[in-house]
Amino acid sequence: MASETQDMLARIAAAADLPALEAERVAALGKQGAITQLLKTLGAMTPEQRQVEGPRIHALREQVSDAIAARKAALEAAVLEKRLATETVDMTLPVSPGPQGSVHPVSQVMDELAEIFADLGFSVATGPEIEDDWHNFTALNIPETHPARAMHDTFYFPQKGELDPGFAEGAMRHLLRTHTSPVQIRTMQARQPPLYIIAPGRVYRSDSDATHTPMFHQIEGLVIDRGIHMGHLKWTLETFLKAFFERDDIVLRLRPSYFPFTEPSAEVDVGYSWEKGRRVVGGADGWMEVLGSGMVHPNVIRACGLDPDEWQGFAFGTGVDRLAMLKYGMDDLRAFFDGDLRWLRHYGFSAFDVPTLSGGVGG
Ligand code: DAH
Repeated sequence: MASETQDMLARIAAAADLPALEAERVAALGKQGAITQLLKTLGAMTPEQRQVEGPRIHALREQVSDAIAARKAALEAAVLEKRLATETVDMTLPVSPGPQGSVHPVSQVMDELAEIFADLGFSVATGPEIEDDWHNFTALNIPETHPARAMHDTFYFPQKGELDPGFAEGAMRHLLRTHTSPVQIRTMQARQPPLYIIAPGRVYRSDSDATHTPMFHQIEGLVIDRGIHMGHLKWTLETFLKAFFERDDIVLRLRPSYFPFTEPSAEVDVGYSWEKGRRVVGGADGWMEVLGSGMVHPNVIRACGLDPDEWQGFAFGTGVDRLAMLKYGMDDLRAFFDGDLRWLRHYGFSAFDVPTLSGGVGG
């Protein structure tokens, strides 16, 4: 028995890998294993024999179990060592592959705008895309009967009696905001002037062709302070457009216009010139409209609970997609929202291309 035990322990100690060790375990401690068989002989012994053999066989079983556990730990440690040795990382290799995907031009332009206006002391404000009638129209001096409402091709939510039987009696009518101008109202209501904000975001109108999509992006600007006049507006727009288009030869033309929420109102044209058969911003071969703007109407200031004799301001609004098209030379707005990977690879920006004024907002 003693030499059999020595053999068993020697085989366990020499097991080359975990499967070999498992085979040894089964041979010793499995149902038919040598030690299990020995344990079974205890039943047939006299009490005196058992008193001698019992502790001996149990000690033997313990010795074998300990030997198996020790060998198992050693083999597992060896496996781990080997894995660690093969999984080293060569820190001197170049990082590859490069980053996947790209930043959409709309996101890029919004980041550029935020960067430019942050430098002028403006912060970014937001508002909901599902708006109510009052914020989108009434508070902006567009009463119910105003013809400007018809111009907006608004997506309205159903009212009581239409599709939505749960619509609360007397509740305000909801809609998808048709412009970012309601953020002016929400900001004036939520915060005390002076206010210097921009509000980029999605807007919705029921309209679709090469230059219109049912969802598009606008950016709103609002300044409310004391003693603000149109000179401040013109300087701000000029500074912004020069930084955005990265040219000093930007010429602006303010054309008298009409918006219900500003008085006086001006449409802003920017001079363009021809370069390789393309219209590019800068120079003065012709004019194209880029912005709507004006001095915030006293009715709007009053609707937000402020005194228009104390607070004045200017506002402006423009299409972010349109700015992107002008700057980066795309000509079909619908391609912005097709999700075509070839288009995104061509016009997209690297995620590392973060616009900064020092590094250039050009992308
Ligand atoms: N909300 C206008 C639109 O969607 C754009 C606009 C024009 C915004 C003049 C303004 C503004 O803040 O002063 O067409």
